[in-house]
Amino acid sequence: MYFIANWKMFGGLNTLNSLHNVEKFLKKFKKNKFTKIIYCPPYTLIRPMSKKLQKSRIKVGAQNCHEAEIPGAFTGSVNPSMLKNVGARYVIIGHSENRRDGEDDKLINRKIKTSLKMGLKVIFCIGETLKEKRKKITKKILIKQIKNGLRNIKTKKNIIIAYEPVWAIGTGLIPKIKDLFLTIAFIKKRMKNVKILYGGSVNPKNIQQLKIIDNIDGFLVGGASQDYKKFIDIIKKTYN
Ligand code: PGA
Repeated sequence: MYFIANWKMFGGLNTLNSLHNVEKFLKKFKKNKFTKIIYCPPYTLIRPMSKKLQKSRIKVGAQNCHEAEIPGAFTGSVNPSMLKNVGARYVIIGHSENRRDGEDDKLINRKIKTSLKMGLKVIFCIGETLKEKRKKITKKILIKQIKNGLRNIKTKKNIIIAYEPVWAIGTGLIPKIKDLFLTIAFIKKRMKNVKILYGGSVNPKNIQQLKIIDNIDGFLVGGASQDYKKFIDIIKKTYN
């Protein structure tokens, strides 16, 4: 099972102290062999975090990247090789908060290609909006996002998909358990041998329901991951 912490635009150097508790937990945790933890802090914390976690099984990832392979005049941007250089091994691409700010499937496709080429593993986010859900076109949207986002990418070995319904992110809402099972199954049928995670308002309470869905390979956790106690709680409860 994957547990990915997406810190979004939160965190300073002082917030790194809590990682020590997650490490301590993981060392003693009976299921640690089956548990992959990846922290995706803001760019500013990637280096200090990866240094702190040098000897740890916890990996570090970024929340986005620029699509250019080589450095260039792109003010404010960071490309995948720069991320790798400071210790990131993963990168989240296609998050709905960035799609909302104008990232389209074509740009996402370029970002994924460059990231894979530079040796990063990609956490590729897909998901429908509330309007699309109401129109009952979720499947169509997911197919479009997968097809365009992964266009001309042959091997899916280093790709993880995170299904994140836009209406579930940061709202406290989660899909109905049966619906979620069916959507994950639908994605899995198309994406053989690819890990499929769920993301959107995952917390220590609703994990009790979510863990029942046996085709999910893990969770992408936003808000609740900033509190290490909640994050550990989510991991523990997933197995119990
Ligand atoms: P949330 O965010 O857990 O705060 O809903 C999830 C995400 O945006 O990845």
